[in-house]
Amino acid sequence: MERNLALEMVRVTEAAALSSARWMGIGNEKAAHQAAVDAMRRTFDAVACAGTVVIGEGERGGAPMLFMGERLGGGEGPALDIALRALEGRRILAEGRPNALAIVAITDAGKFFRAPDTAMDKIAVGPRARGAVDLTLPPEENLQRIAEVMACHVEDLAVVILNRPRHADLIRTIRRCGARIKLIQDGDVSAAIATAFPESGVDVLMGSGGAPEGVLAAAALQCLGGDMQARLKPRNDREVEGARRLGIKDKDLDRVYRIDDLADGELMVAATGVTDGDLLRGVRFFGGGARTHSLAVRRRSGTVRFIEASHRFERSPEY
Ligand code: FBP
Repeated sequence: MERNLALEMVRVTEAAALSSARWMGIGNEKAAHQAAVDAMRRTFDAVACAGTVVIGEGERGGAPMLFMGERLGGGEGPALDIALRALEGRRILAEGRPNALAIVAITDAGKFFRAPDTAMDKIAVGPRARGAVDLTLPPEENLQRIAEVMACHVEDLAVVILNRPRHADLIRTIRRCGARIKLIQDGDVSAAIATAFPESGVDVLMGSGGAPEGVLAAAALQCLGGDMQARLKPRNDREVEGARRLGIKDKDLDRVYRIDDLADGELMVAATGVTDGDLLRGVRFFGGGARTHSLAVRRRSGTVRFIEASHRFERSPEY
């Protein structure tokens, strides 16, 4: 796959971040999301590729644009599959809290898990703990194994978990074995990717969150040499039906998916911070422009780029 596409993807996530960041703290999730979707759609059309959305903003009808199956890109160029969230953390942005971002992952056709719109149990770690996680084991054993390969004590580990009542038992268990916990309100994609960066201060993501978000996290961790396992967790019959519609067999509803099952092939991932987070700084507006902070990673080369860009609005009036 053309390696410059990774940088083209940064343009796409920058555009979504710039447009949605205008809505920070305004309390209007819908408008913020729409702004991100419109900008991402518009910029994607300038990219020379023949892309198909496999993880999008919802199924056709449920999403005005960037829906599953939608074709994106200028049409000429490589055929690829696209996983995206124009705005990951709608609630975060509406309330001006940390860790909202825009993210796009691309790979060869057929290499993303077609995740239904349901929940997913996840365990994610950075490269230092690759190979040490096993979702079939209890959390305390996973933490023990992670501590061993990282040559530290369980007490040194910081586990990031979405702050939800459903995680009460998990939190109790982790506290009992002595690991530290960082509870987040939303945004487990950013949290999962942050485990690959020691300076982020988090080592493991545990607990359940969105399944489409799980695929995006797996794509980035695959490029960064991290690891992840996941298991679907449909919350009702409608979600089971949704999974079946995507071709998931009933026997796979409690299967453990490994990172290669979630995201494989020639992956490239770009993300731009919308609000400040553990991983990326949010958009900073100044008179006549704004600065963005992005991450671009490629699996084949293993290159990790942090890109700071300064945008002049008089030359790109759409923002
Ligand atoms: P938004 O829908 O506000 O963008 O929230 C994103 C998110 O926090 C994800 O990061 C996470 O995977 C999921 O929602 C968690 O879902 P739930 O609120 O059902 O626990």
